Amino acid sequence: MHIRNAEAKDIPAILALYNHAVRETTAAWTGCEETLEDRVTWFEARKSQGFPVIVAVDTQESVAGFASYGPFRSKEGYRFTVEHTVYVDPSRHRQGIGRNLMFRILEIAEADGIHVLVGGVDGDNLASIRLHEALGFEVTGRLPQTGTKFGRWLDLVFLTKVLSETRAPEGR
Ligand SMILES: CC(C)(COP(=O)(O)OP(=O)(O)OC[C@H]1O[C@@H](n2cnc3c(N)ncnc32)[C@H](O)[C@@H]1OP(=O)(O)O)[C@@H](O)C(=O)NCCC(=O)NCCS
Repeated sequence: MHIRNAEAKDIPAILALYNHAVRETTAAWTGCEETLEDRVTWFEARKSQGFPVIVAVDTQESVAGFASYGPFRSKEGYRFTVEHTVYVDPSRHRQGIGRNLMFRILEIAEADGIHVLVGGVDGDNLASIRLHEALGFEVTGRLPQTGTKFGRWLDLVFLTKVLSETRAPEGR
């Protein structure tokens, strides 16, 4: 498995992974699948804002997972914090792909001068919570019953990782 920057040709596979999660899981708190056009718009926005989109591909160049990050919140005071996502093909879970995608995301974030990464996860999504904890993230917030899907309330769990203990920038 090889991790590389996503290219336009990967967008249909990224879309398929995301839409599968929409249909089958509480990883995305929506029942609305995206169109190819939606994902192209998202991909172009990430690229133009300088945010990464990466994929894990096998020797056949088949996409087994993707990860990305973007703004956590829009006000400028949050500019050193990003919110990431990671999705792995369910038929390839537990093969270290999520971990490798996240390793790379952490490397990119560090090189980009990001201070904090935030993951927002369904409180019942033990796979994601354990993956994050294994990478040094801590559960730093739990917002009970803030979401709903499949006829139940969902707790939003925030997992955060401070990348380095640097001084906050001067000024506002
Ligand atoms: C969460 C997700 C990305 C994990 O990807 P993965 O490739 O299966 O994970 P890895 O094989 O790299 O696992 C790394 C570690 O995470 C933990 N982990 C992963 N899946 C787990 C599970 N089902 N139960 C418990 N721990 C798990 C383990 O510590 C694991 O290490 P180990 O296998 O050596 O014990 C994957 O389950 C997924 O795509 N889920 C749907 C989308 C999602 O929830 N994304 C997160 C929202 S940001």
